[in-house]
Amino acid sequence: MRAEILDFLRQNQGKYVSGEEISRELNVSRTAVWKHIRALKQDGYQIEAHTRAGYCLRGTTGRLLPEEIKAVLTTKVMGQEIYYYPQIGSTNNEAKKLAAGGCPEGTIVVAETQNTGRGRLARGWFSPYGKGIWMSVVLRPPFSPLEASKCTLMAAVAVNRVIRQVAGVYSGIKWPNDILFQGRKLVGILTEMSAEMDAINYVVIGMGINVNIEEREFPGEIAATATSLLAVSGREIDRRMFLAAILKELETAYHLVQTGGFTSILDDWRSQSITLGKNVDVIGPDHRYSGLAIDIDNEGALLVKTAQGVRKVLAGDVSIR
Ligand code: BTN
Repeated sequence: MRAEILDFLRQNQGKYVSGEEISRELNVSRTAVWKHIRALKQDGYQIEAHTRAGYCLRGTTGRLLPEEIKAVLTTKVMGQEIYYYPQIGSTNNEAKKLAAGGCPEGTIVVAETQNTGRGRLARGWFSPYGKGIWMSVVLRPPFSPLEASKCTLMAAVAVNRVIRQVAGVYSGIKWPNDILFQGRKLVGILTEMSAEMDAINYVVIGMGINVNIEEREFPGEIAATATSLLAVSGREIDRRMFLAAILKELETAYHLVQTGGFTSILDDWRSQSITLGKNVDVIGPDHRYSGLAIDIDNEGALLVKTAQGVRKVLAGDVSIR
C-alpha cells in the first residue's frame, strides 16, 4: 500500500490531495493513509501536510531506494530485482552471494556507502554516503569464459555513453575499463566471474561512479587522480535518473553482444578510448615495459607495439605517458 500511496502522490506531484481522496481512490482507511504518509516522511520524502487541503509531495528522498529507481526505470531485465543497502561492505561481494544463490540475471545491488569497497588490483574504492553510484549488476552470459571480457568492455562503453549524453561531460575510456576526464578518474569498473571450463555461471559487473562528490572531499591519496561529475561539470546530478539511464544503455549493449553485435561495441570502445594511439607504460607483477598502444583484440587485450614486437596486455596496470 505504501507504494500505491507514493505513486498516487507522484501522479499529483506539486498538488494537494486530501486524505479522503487517497483513501477513496486506493480503498484504504484514513488511518492507514496517515500512517503510511508518516513513514514516508520518516524515510525522507518531502511531503507537506495541510489540515484542509491534504498532502502534497514536494520532493523525493534523494536516496537510491528501489521504489525510486523503479519509478523511472525503462528496462526489461536490468534492475528488475533491486537489493538496496544504506551501508554495505562491498556491493560486488553481495552480488556474488546472490548470484551463487541463483538470483535472476539483471539483479542489481546498490548502496549509499561501502565500508570496504573494492577496486582492481586489490585496491580499495572510496564510496562516500549518497554521493555516488556504487552498484553491482549480475549477468549470466551464455558464452564461454574466454569471452567474459566482452561484459567489461560493453559496461565501459555503456557508462561512458551515459556520461557524455546525460552529464554532458566528454569523458573517455582508459584500458581496460576506467572512465577518465582530463586524466582523472570518474568511474572504475570491477568485473568478477564464476565459471566452469566451458560455461560462465555468472558475471558481476561492479561500477563505482563518482557523481556528486565535491573536489575537496576526496582523500589526499587520490585527490590528484580522481574526480567527479559534479567537480567537472559544476552540476549536481539526479543519481536515480543517471542509474536508470545506465541500466537502459547496459541492457541495449548486452542485447547487442548476445545477438552478434560485439564488433560494434568494440568499435565504440575504440572510438571512445583515450589509450589507443598513446605511448603507455605497462606495469605487471613481474614485468614493466613501454610502447605504443595500437589496438584491442576481441578478447579485450590491449596490443602494445614495443621495440621487441607487439605484446598482448591481458591484466595489470597501464599508464598513459
Ligand atoms: C577500479 O579499481 O577502478 C574498480 C573500482 C570498482 C568499484 C565498484 S563500487 C561498486 C562495486 N563494489 C565494489 O566493492 N567495487 C565495485
